[in-house]
Amino acid sequence: MSKKTIHPAKVVAGGVAPPGDKSISHRYAMLAGIAEGTTELTNFALAADCHSTLACMKSLGAEVKVEKDLVRVSGHGLRGLKSSWRSLDAGNSGTTIRLLSGILAGQDFTTKIAGDDSLNKRPMKRILTPLREMGAQISARDENFAPLEIRGGKLRGIHYQMPMASAQVKSAVLLAGLFADGETSVIEPARTRDHTELALLEFGVPLERHGRTVHIPANGERKLTGKKMEVPGDLSSAVFFIAAASMFPESSLHIQAVGLNPTRTAILDVFARMGASIQMLSLRSAQGEIIGDIAVKGAELKGGVIAGAEIPLVIDELPMLAALGPFTEEGIEIRDAAELRVKESDRIAVLVENLRRMGAQVEERPDGLKVAGRGAGKIRGAEIEPHGDHRIAMAFAVAALGATSPTTIRDADCAGVSYPTFYDDLARVTEHTEI
Ligand code: S3P
Repeated sequence: MSKKTIHPAKVVAGGVAPPGDKSISHRYAMLAGIAEGTTELTNFALAADCHSTLACMKSLGAEVKVEKDLVRVSGHGLRGLKSSWRSLDAGNSGTTIRLLSGILAGQDFTTKIAGDDSLNKRPMKRILTPLREMGAQISARDENFAPLEIRGGKLRGIHYQMPMASAQVKSAVLLAGLFADGETSVIEPARTRDHTELALLEFGVPLERHGRTVHIPANGERKLTGKKMEVPGDLSSAVFFIAAASMFPESSLHIQAVGLNPTRTAILDVFARMGASIQMLSLRSAQGEIIGDIAVKGAELKGGVIAGAEIPLVIDELPMLAALGPFTEEGIEIRDAAELRVKESDRIAVLVENLRRMGAQVEERPDGLKVAGRGAGKIRGAEIEPHGDHRIAMAFAVAALGATSPTTIRDADCAGVSYPTFYDDLARVTEHTEI
């Protein structure tokens, strides 16, 4: 297993371009596989997760060609997928298994799909319920976990009031809705990322949105057409650099070509509220997504509380915020985030464990945690155990920059699930203290 040592830093400066957005890459790859013709994707995510999606689409009969971050996917239309003789492997990727299940529910063949040990422990009932209501027959281990066996077939449209704010569940229902008779609509209890809606529109599906309801109309065109598309840089990856730069007063960092979709930028509001110095520059749009640069300068972060409807909008960035807690004035408190316990790891327990290893004062709660701020003392280097979770490894690599001694990240390569070049990019923009 790979280990990485991170030394304390004194400043973060220069420029960085995070890899393509993971959420968007999954969606473009899946939709390209059920579109007619070839889709050319530039800046496709290097993330292992998105390569799991590409491999699944290939097994289902789409043609996939990869040249670094340029990906070409050729599909044979909405009814053009073929059954895969072997079980599909979603790897570590919740988005792959949950979204693809929506597509598989509409096929006239049966598919098995599973993932790694972590993914096979994550809840799937949330997608099984609506997809079964639409007419798919799905079996799951203990009625909740992968491996899933999805016997697709004729689906009927449903009006689904989602019990939870989840973009993955919303997307699974909408994708199944492409294959269903009649209208499909989803009502979300709180806003979640809308990349699926934007991507469907871009591929030519006339979807409608009214407030928190999304409809796929009964009589609309259901034909997707391949095209050239650019994937924005991943804001969730950029956040590690926003945090790193904010930690040191002399920092000045330019982050290039990042996705700034308003359903993802709540994290920038949280940083701004905490006193971070962030500027968005050079905004433009591509396929309905907003892309821009972010300039970050060092700041004294205040800290604060993150709770309620904001949680689903910043769910992937909470590990970084929690790990920043000891470097803020008031500390960080996270509430209403029990969902963190069923991510790639139990992120509440794993954050608490590793923050304590670094000497931070932390209180664990069922739905969050409270991390004491600077007044509780300095943070020391430690041996970090990410439990295979990419965002934990990266969050603590950043916290390590502010520690009093070097930190070792065990199994550091797990960062590759979303950001394979993370440590190199971090090293390039970091100047270290002599110790
Ligand atoms: C994602 C949605 C979120 C997020 C995940 C990616 C997506 O999950 O945490 O990393 O691409 O739709 P939930 O839908 O479970 O909240």
